[in-house]
Amino acid sequence: MLSQLEELRERALHDLEAATTVESLEQWRLAYLGRRGQLTTVLRGLGQLSPEERPAVGRVANTIKNALEQAYEERAETLRQAALAEELERGALDVRLPGRPQRLGYLHPSTQTLREIYAIFAQMGFQVLRSGEVEDDATNFQLLNLPPDHPARDMWSTFYLNQPGLLLRTHTSPGQIHAMRRFHPEPIRVILPGKCYRYEQVTQRHEFQFYQVEGLAIGYNITMADLKGTLVHFARQMFGAERRLRFRPSYFPFTEPSAEADMDCIICEGQGCPLCKYTGWLEILGCGMVHPTVLRNGGYDPDVYSGFAFGMGPERITMLKHGIADIRSFFANDLRFLQQFG
Ligand code: PHE
Repeated sequence: MLSQLEELRERALHDLEAATTVESLEQWRLAYLGRRGQLTTVLRGLGQLSPEERPAVGRVANTIKNALEQAYEERAETLRQAALAEELERGALDVRLPGRPQRLGYLHPSTQTLREIYAIFAQMGFQVLRSGEVEDDATNFQLLNLPPDHPARDMWSTFYLNQPGLLLRTHTSPGQIHAMRRFHPEPIRVILPGKCYRYEQVTQRHEFQFYQVEGLAIGYNITMADLKGTLVHFARQMFGAERRLRFRPSYFPFTEPSAEADMDCIICEGQGCPLCKYTGWLEILGCGMVHPTVLRNGGYDPDVYSGFAFGMGPERITMLKHGIADIRSFFANDLRFLQQFG
């Protein structure tokens, strides 16, 4: 019996060597230590031994049982470690590789110009005020001194919404009404940026959608000199300290007097070239002193207050700054164009 047990121990340990997978290890456990395993069978047979033999054989059998159980645990642990090592090997991540760089986006050229404009006017105390792209006829036209039958409306044909009286704003000038009604009777210094729309034949120089930046200053004793000084400062900040402006009389229903401001050509400096069509001047904005009727519509008494307003097209300004020939590029979403401003 004892030699039988010894032989069992040896066989078991020998077989264990061959158990290199979780499955074969489990088979080994069932074969030796399981309820029907060989060692269990021997232990069960102890009852048939004589009382003298039983204690010695029993002790040896228990020692073997413990030894096999311990060997089994060690083997199982070895297999677990091997599986883990293999797992780590398979999912290996080489942390020494340089990371993949994040591709950063950048601002659209119109946005870049808008921010430059905000910064320049901020130096002069103008804050940014926004209003919606959908306007009503009253604010876009009538309160700006353009009654329904006014011939100047021809210049501002636009897109109309199904709901009567609503339209896409044709200029940022309705923002003047919003600003005045919001701030009166306080003095005002705001710029009003945003998208505008016109029913327009689209060409290199005309889009049906475009940005404008409107400016509005209202206070006591504001004169045309303030308007000119403000715009000259803007032009010099934007295009260089040598720039000169020329104010040509013009007409807008909401300003009186009205003017168009031209800047000396940034290419030829006034000598005449294709960009300025050999005039030496580039038209950059419309402006004027706020019409008394418009002041009144905004809640300001024209006998007490005066003000100036102007409106410029930031795409046109960006075109001048960067020599862009076609205004349609701004809305074409062509990366070859956009990436040049990264
Ligand atoms: N709203 C005018 C336009 O769209 C520009 C302008 C603004 C003129 C303010 C005078 C004063 O052409």
